[in-house]
Amino acid sequence: MEPVGSKVSIVGAGAVGMAIAYAALIRGVARTVALMDVNAEKVAAEVLDLSHGLEFVSRASVIGGANPAVCAGSDVIVFTAGAKQRPGQSRLELAEATIELTRTALPPIVAAAPQARIVMVTNPVDIITYAALKFTGLPRNQLFGSGTVLDSSRLRFLVSEHCRVAVQNVHAYIAGEHGDSEIPLWSSATIGGVPLLDWESLRGGELLDADARAHIHSEVVGSAYRIIEGKGATNYAIGLASTRIVEAILNDEHRVLPVSALIDEDIHGISDVCLSLPTVVDAAGAGQRLPIAMSADELAGLRASAQTLREMQARFGL
Ligand code: LAC
Repeated sequence: MEPVGSKVSIVGAGAVGMAIAYAALIRGVARTVALMDVNAEKVAAEVLDLSHGLEFVSRASVIGGANPAVCAGSDVIVFTAGAKQRPGQSRLELAEATIELTRTALPPIVAAAPQARIVMVTNPVDIITYAALKFTGLPRNQLFGSGTVLDSSRLRFLVSEHCRVAVQNVHAYIAGEHGDSEIPLWSSATIGGVPLLDWESLRGGELLDADARAHIHSEVVGSAYRIIEGKGATNYAIGLASTRIVEAILNDEHRVLPVSALIDEDIHGISDVCLSLPTVVDAAGAGQRLPIAMSADELAGLRASAQTLREMQARFGL
């Protein structure tokens, strides 16, 4: 029977993939949620466990299996399969094993759902997105990565806590690599419409001076390491961030999100690399990048981040 409504498939039933599936059901993102993982027994158990809660969420069905055919007819596919980051291990150290996994696993999935927009979440997400574009030949809008959507939400949370303002009133982006070389775009950030760099402390909030900004930046970069040290993986926030991206596609929201998309033209002297800049995400996937103004320091940081990623691409022959 043809699935009614939209279908999102999640490849990889690990902690991240299951957090995305769970968030997608709770937010009523799609009519059909499909899980795919080589571990057929685990997928079957996860499908059962999610299905037993369907009474409590919007109308949806959950299917799953170890065969890429389970992704057939997907509107969006979220790819989370890959090695887990161990305590103290950087995302870039995962690259070699995960590139090879992506090389073999992704093409049959794309063949099962050639029209699907594909959101890569597997780390190191910028490198894996670049590799996936090469392995599949898909255009930059149709296949892109979750990028720094999560890092930007971490930044917004920390700024909101520091300034005692609702996180929804903080508009700030992390750009570049989803990783150690990422940079905060302070010069374009605003809090309730007030430029962040002009922020005076409010109601007992602290000043957001250079030291405070440097500390927040360091906290954002170190977040995943701290969480992995304590619980072995990060999953809930990346689950919510990835689901946000899926919603922007399925609802054709034209939502501005810092996703990791191929820079296929010269942007600030950067090209031929996947990294995050504020981008319009809609039914077609990753669309126009916003011409966001950056300070000289931010531009230098973005170029350094791009260089880190290009060196990784060269190291693995991408
Ligand atoms: C993190 C993982 C998703 O930053 O890279 O939590």
